[in-house]
Amino acid sequence: MRKINIGIIGLGTIGEGLFRIINSQKSSIRKKFNIEINIIKVCDLDYKLAKKLKIEKKLFTNNYNQIVEDPKIDCVVELIGGTTIAKTIADKTLKFNKHFVTANKALIAMHGNTLSRVATKKNLHLMYEASVGGGIPLLNSIKESIIINEIKSFHGILNGTCNYILSLMAEGKEFNSALSEAQKLGFAEADPTLDINGYDTAHKVCVMAQECFGYSPNIKKIHIEGIEKINKIDLDVAKELNCKIKLIGKGKIKGKDLSLSVNPMLLKKDNPLFNVENEFNAVLIDSKNLGPIMKYGYGAGMLPTASAVITDLIRLNTDISSKAMQISKKYNLLNINDSKSRFYIRFFVVNKSGYLAKITSKFAKYKINIEKIIQNPHITNLKKVPVVITTKKSKFSELDKLLSEVHKSGLTSKESIMIPFEE
Ligand code: HSE
Repeated sequence: MRKINIGIIGLGTIGEGLFRIINSQKSSIRKKFNIEINIIKVCDLDYKLAKKLKIEKKLFTNNYNQIVEDPKIDCVVELIGGTTIAKTIADKTLKFNKHFVTANKALIAMHGNTLSRVATKKNLHLMYEASVGGGIPLLNSIKESIIINEIKSFHGILNGTCNYILSLMAEGKEFNSALSEAQKLGFAEADPTLDINGYDTAHKVCVMAQECFGYSPNIKKIHIEGIEKINKIDLDVAKELNCKIKLIGKGKIKGKDLSLSVNPMLLKKDNPLFNVENEFNAVLIDSKNLGPIMKYGYGAGMLPTASAVITDLIRLNTDISSKAMQISKKYNLLNINDSKSRFYIRFFVVNKSGYLAKITSKFAKYKINIEKIIQNPHITNLKKVPVVITTKKSKFSELDKLLSEVHKSGLTSKESIMIPFEE
């Protein structure tokens, strides 16, 4: 029987889940995997949460050094999030020759490559299954099997909060009330700005790029758009177009070129991600021999995410090199400006004769081929009316220029949005 002594830093949602699962399933884990997971110490800001979980006072500390420096502990589980204290904890954990398990996507996106190099050199594990897709067995299955094939692309709904908000808005709920429901249900970040503005998804895209392509991107070079500008009208028009709007994080390689992006996209019914609703996450991975596969499940939540952390703890006895991050590839990271797609553009146009014509003349100027124009007949008595224009395949940079020109000219309000179709 192998014994793993762990210290948990952070008793928030995932920490609580981890504590509950380890305690309730200790003997079944022992039977199935021949491993005994022992919680030696837990750390949080104060004893409140530990008391709620009936954790004895002698197991509690509010000083993480008492965990990272404790010689009885083999593995530190970091569940506090962020990239400041969490980075110090990661560094110290490796310095004190302990394995490091985390659910922290921002930490792995920003420092995964460096931490992994240090860990591998010291024959230690750096594990982060819970950082992308929450409870979905994703990163370890990429490392253990999918990577055998050449991964060509991934497309994912990687943020439960955004997906929940978009699903509820499509049914008529307001943005803010959908967001507060997501907060109450516990899957929104402490600061939900990171969910809404796309950065949570971007961190996950960086981790996926590391795993799928062996490339560690600079997050600043990735095009990141969130769902702040999505209006209820967009979801209604999307429905008329037999589409849904989803926040998509994606990565795709073509020869030496790599494109990485996070933005809302219009998905058609035949897209496997079309029916992924509410807080669910899903990732489509396309690889050479396997073809497309999809992973689907809860991307957040106490028990699913804690389950992913436990799978890391169970894997601590595997060969280090098979688990280490393999960053070696160099790609030419493409700029979104050069990408081409069909687009959905929504303007709020001044409700006066000739304004729409002036806007469409800009499309002619930029040689952008209009496919459809939709004006909602129910909202024509306002000063500015929503008008949607869909285009044939066009270059992002040209449409972007067109949009700023239209804004500057005062033909519309500034809240226009352009959303690519995912084909
Ligand atoms: N805030 C994240 C989400 C939690 O909504 O998906 C999981 O990373």
